[in-house]
Amino acid sequence: MPMRTRLDLAVSESSRACQILLDAALAELPSLADGRRAVLLVDANVRRLHGHALPAWPVVEVGIGEGAKTLATIEHLARTLVAAGVDRSTLLVGVGGGVTCDVTGFLGSILLRGLPFGFVATTLVAQVDAAIGGKNGVNLDGYKNLIGTFTQPEFVVCDHGFLSTLPAREMGCGMAEAIKTAAIGDARLFTRIEADLDAVLACDHALLAPVVEGAARTKVRIVAADERERGPRQLLNFGHTLGHGVEKVFAMSHGEAVAIGMVAAARLSVRRGLLAADDGARLERLLARAGLPTAWPEGRWPDLVEAMRRDKKRHEGRQLGVLLRAIGDGVVVEIDDAEWREACA
Ligand SMILES: NC(=O)c1ccc[n+]([C@@H]2O[C@H](COP(=O)([O-])OP(=O)(O)OC[C@H]3O[C@@H](n4cnc5c(N)ncnc54)[C@H](O)[C@@H]3O)[C@@H](O)[C@H]2O)c1
Repeated sequence: MPMRTRLDLAVSESSRACQILLDAALAELPSLADGRRAVLLVDANVRRLHGHALPAWPVVEVGIGEGAKTLATIEHLARTLVAAGVDRSTLLVGVGGGVTCDVTGFLGSILLRGLPFGFVATTLVAQVDAAIGGKNGVNLDGYKNLIGTFTQPEFVVCDHGFLSTLPAREMGCGMAEAIKTAAIGDARLFTRIEADLDAVLACDHALLAPVVEGAARTKVRIVAADERERGPRQLLNFGHTLGHGVEKVFAMSHGEAVAIGMVAAARLSVRRGLLAADDGARLERLLARAGLPTAWPEGRWPDLVEAMRRDKKRHEGRQLGVLLRAIGDGVVVEIDDAEWREACA
């Protein structure tokens, strides 16, 4: 039996503590349910590929991709679950990537005023980032995550076995989030990713596991200090101010859009004299090696400015963004639209 690593995320503002089981097997799910009635909310692709390995609990499918992160999905799932007779003791288990986790977490935090929920994270994005930290929600008119809550799942199961069926492009998107976390808060993890990137992308378990664990540990450390994102948690938005705009305007995947956002933020950091040019180049090289886009897509600047204006990270008319002072050292600063534009030129 492989060694299992367990991280505990306890946040003072939350009524719930969350256990994150790294290197865990899906087979542990029944013991986490602990005899309670459970319903699986499963990404349709994951059901097709891995449904045979799931416990024999009732299944409700969650639609595929970013288009499923809507209030309409929440309403549909809520009706289905209410019709199936769920009550406040029913455990909801989201099985899928970031979209399934965000949808399940939001539904679990509002349905019947809240019922217990947990995640089986099946993408690298979810295992290193999306499943951890208690942020959940859906998009509104295509603008990202405008509706949601901070509610911790009871547990997150990260079984690397799922990643063997993940398309290479989705592995790259997961690396974007791991690189982001390393860039703002863990220089050693960044160096590890530089050294082991090819093996990690090829799902070499021995080298993948420490990267997932490193990213998860750094995220847990930051969220434990600031669950509601009033301070240091904002650092995890590195690449996201512009990235969320790019994701909406160019209909790009989340990880790829965040990669472009990180390149722009790194260039801006160098222009402001905060970051050494060599470190900016290091970040760009690593993202490119992970197969992520680093070039700015053509045009649509007014749409991007509009998308950034609607971003919930804007405070009292000020646009906050994350820059780097060094690899492993992010800082939250005010950035105006014109400065973003110059960084993208
Ligand atoms: N809540 C947070 O803190 C947080 C953090 C980061 C990202 N996110 C959100 O996460 C979402 C992106 O997550 P994602 O990249 O996992 O996207 P996703 O959930 O859409 O999954 C990506 C694709 O992989 C497929 N898939 C999932 N598991 C698979 C497997 N094991 N094998 C084969 N295919 C599989 C899915 O069907 C989908 O087509 C975005 O909506 C983003 O906003 C949330």
